Amino acid sequence: MRTHQQPTLPQHSSKSNEHYTPAKWPDAARLVMGGIDLDPASCELANEVVQAERIYTKADDGLLQPWHGRVWCNPPYGYRSRRSGGRTSNKQVWVDRCVQAYLSGEIEQCCLLVTSSTGDGWFRPLWSNWVCFPYERISFYGPDGSSDSNPGSSAVVYLGPNGDAFRRIFSPLGRVVPPEYAPEKQLPLWDHEAEWQQFRKWSHQQSQAAPTTQDRRQDP
Ligand SMILES: C[S@@+](CC[C@H](N)C(=O)[O-])C[C@H]1O[C@@H](n2cnc3c(N)ncnc32)[C@H](O)[C@@H]1O
Repeated sequence: MRTHQQPTLPQHSSKSNEHYTPAKWPDAARLVMGGIDLDPASCELANEVVQAERIYTKADDGLLQPWHGRVWCNPPYGYRSRRSGGRTSNKQVWVDRCVQAYLSGEIEQCCLLVTSSTGDGWFRPLWSNWVCFPYERISFYGPDGSSDSNPGSSAVVYLGPNGDAFRRIFSPLGRVVPPEYAPEKQLPLWDHEAEWQQFRKWSHQQSQAAPTTQDRRQDP
């Protein structure tokens, strides 16, 4: 694993979305996935550390491009204007794009780095996957190489078939939580109600299958 090296570059104007990930995290993701083919939300500077084979930048609008292979994604923060007017959370649209790309087979695997905002609706579909809650506040860095003062905590979510590898490689870095439940089909982010109904059905089945306290008392 490479050391935590950040490129020293000339000053750029700092934009709110320019929070680049230190090497430890994409390095761990690379070990889990066997490589990083695509970072769909990036820039040349960030990719000196992430080292994805291909990147999309803001100018490309990575959301609208075709995705492929093994993906690293630390999406932009803030909001995105909708064609219909108004705006929507970047986290929501990028998380949704990642989940849908994985479920549809457009991509093979994805390590997605987001804030650990477990109370937000966009986080809910992520519980169906392996999640690492880092033991540290990740020290992102900006275009001038300086570390951000990160006020929040993060989560790295793994969408892919190498769950055991994710657990082994990410366990030293944070608390790794297995998929909480595995509905037959993960539902799109906007279908919260249907997902909730599916979860209720599943938990009801679990409670029917589990022995009751009474059953346990009667065990010899
Ligand atoms: C939080 S930074 C993460 C950069 C890099 N992925 C990493 O992990 O270090 C998000 C990056 O996405 C870029 N970005 C913003 N909007 C984008 C868009 N619509 N499509 C592609 N990239 C975008 C920003 O310019 C920024 O470089």
